[in-house]
Amino acid sequence: MNDHSSDWWKSCVIYQVYPRSFYDSNGDGIGDLDGITQKLDHLIELGVNTLWVSPFFASPQVDFGYDISDFTSVAPEYGNLDSAKALIDAAHQRGLKVLFDLVLNHTSSQHPWFQDSLTGKSSEHADWYIWADGRGPAGRIPPNNWRSGLEVKSAWHYSKTRKQWYLGTFLPCQPDLNWRNEHVREAMFNAVRFWLDLGVDGFRLDMFGAIMKDPMLRSNPFHPYMEPSELMRLWRRDYTENTDDNFELARDLRSVLMRYEPERVLIGEVFGPPETLKRYVANGAGLHFTFLFGFLAFRFKAKFFSKLIASYEKNFPEPYLPTYVLENHDRARSFSRVGENIFKAKLLALLMLTLRGVPVIYQGQELGMPNTYIPLRKAKDPIAKEYFWWMPEFVSKRLPERINRDEVRTPMQWDSSVNAGFCPPKTTPWLPVNENYLSCNVEVQRSYEYSLFCWYKAVLAQRALRPSLTLGDLVMISGLPEQVIGYARTHGEDSCQVFLNFGDTDSYFDVTAPDKVILSSDPGNLLLDGRLKLAPYGAILLA
Ligand code: BGC
Repeated sequence: MNDHSSDWWKSCVIYQVYPRSFYDSNGDGIGDLDGITQKLDHLIELGVNTLWVSPFFASPQVDFGYDISDFTSVAPEYGNLDSAKALIDAAHQRGLKVLFDLVLNHTSSQHPWFQDSLTGKSSEHADWYIWADGRGPAGRIPPNNWRSGLEVKSAWHYSKTRKQWYLGTFLPCQPDLNWRNEHVREAMFNAVRFWLDLGVDGFRLDMFGAIMKDPMLRSNPFHPYMEPSELMRLWRRDYTENTDDNFELARDLRSVLMRYEPERVLIGEVFGPPETLKRYVANGAGLHFTFLFGFLAFRFKAKFFSKLIASYEKNFPEPYLPTYVLENHDRARSFSRVGENIFKAKLLALLMLTLRGVPVIYQGQELGMPNTYIPLRKAKDPIAKEYFWWMPEFVSKRLPERINRDEVRTPMQWDSSVNAGFCPPKTTPWLPVNENYLSCNVEVQRSYEYSLFCWYKAVLAQRALRPSLTLGDLVMISGLPEQVIGYARTHGEDSCQVFLNFGDTDSYFDVTAPDKVILSSDPGNLLLDGRLKLAPYGAILLA
C-alpha cells in the first residue's frame, strides 16, 4: 500500500511513461490515461515504485504535451480529470507513487493568456510573458543574443501585432512566462496546488533551470563548451539559466509542497556543473533531486563509467542522491547505443539499478526497445521539423543522437499481435510500431527467463530486498582488470558487491568476502574459491 513515510523518495525507482505511446485504451491510435491505469500491473511486475507521467494536459500537441494551453485540464485524447484521479488512486492502491510533469517555463502559444498578451501592451495579460523592444532603427533586431534551446536560432520571436519580440526559449510556439509578474506566480502555484490536492506525489520539472531570466536582459557571454550529456553550447547561459532568482524559485515551490503530507517531491531538469545542481537541493529547502544526464551520452567503456561514478560519489555524497538516466523521450534508446547487444544491456541495467541513488527507467528500456528509424521528412517531432528539415537523410542516420525524437517514442510493445497490443489491429498508431515487436514485447519476454525484462525484474527484486542497494554506501573496488568495474554496497549487516566486465574478452580476478552469486547475466561467469571469471560483457552480483 502507499508508503506514508516522509523519505519514501530516497529509495524510489522511477519509471517514465510517455502517455501518447504507452497503451491506447479507446482505439484511437493514441495512448491515454485509462491505458496507463490498465497497465499499472506491468510496473508492479517489473518492480518499480514510482511512476512519472509525461504531460497529458490540454494542449494543441505541437510539442506533444509540452505546450500546455490549460494547466488544470486534461487533453481530450488522454481522458479527463476523472481519468487522472482514477490513475492516481489506482497507482496508490498498488503502492506506487505518482509524479506528474510540470512545465513552468512556458505555455503553448494557443494558451488564452498568450493570445491575450499578443493583442497589445494594454491587454490584461500584457506582462505575463517576456516581451521586449528590438534593436536597430526599426526594432527588427532581437533584443539580445539569447539563443533557443538548441542554440541554432535566436530565442526571440517577432510579433507584428505588438511590434515587439517575445521570448520562446524552446520553440516559437512555447512562449516563456514572465515569472517576475506576481499574477503569473499565483496562477502557476495554484495549478501546482490543484494537482497536489488531487493526490499527486510530486513533479518532474521541465526545463526548470531556465525559468528566471536576467531582468536587465543582458546578453550571454560567448564561450563554447560541451555539456556532460554531450550537447554543444556556444554561449554560457549566465543570464538565462540557474540565476540566483531561480534557486529562490525552487525554494518557493518547495514551500508550496510543504503543506502536504506525506512528503511530495520535486525532481528538476536542470543543467550545470555539480556545484550548481547541488545548490538546488541544498539544506533540504529547494528541489529533492536534479537529473544527472551524464549517462545519456555513454560510451560502453569501463573508464567512462568509473570516472563518472567517482565524480558523482565525490560531488553528491549523502544526503545528496545522484540520479541515473540512460534514455528518455528526448534522447537515443540505450539498446541502440550498445548495438542491440543483450549482454551489454544487462550489464547497464545491473549498473544503473545497483548504484547509490535514484534510477529512472524509460518505458520499453526494460525490453530493449531500440530506436525506430523514421525519416526526417516524416517527422512529427517539432524539433526535427523546426531545426533539421534541411539535413540530408544519410547524415541524420549516422548521428549517434536521434534528432527526430519520434524514433524513441514509438508505441510500447506489449504482445505479438498486430500493433504490438498497443492499439487494436485495425487502428493506425500515431507512430509506427517497431518491426521487431514479434520478439521484443512484454508477453514474449515474460515467458523467457533469459530475457532483458526478466533480468530487470530480478535486479529490481534484489534492490527491494537488500537495504544495502537502496540505502547503503558505495565504495569502488580497486586492483581490477582495466575493463572491469567493481563496487561494494554496505548498509549495516547487509552488503553486496557488483562486478561488470565492459571488455569483449573474459576477465579473471580475485574477490574477497562475498561467496555467493546472487545474480549472473551469463552462464560463462564463474566464481570458484574466491576467483571470479567474467565472460565478455558479463555482470554479476555477489553477496
Ligand atoms: C522536454 C522536451 C520538451 C521541452 C520543452 C524538455 O526538456 O523533455 O520533451 O520538448 O522540454 O518543454
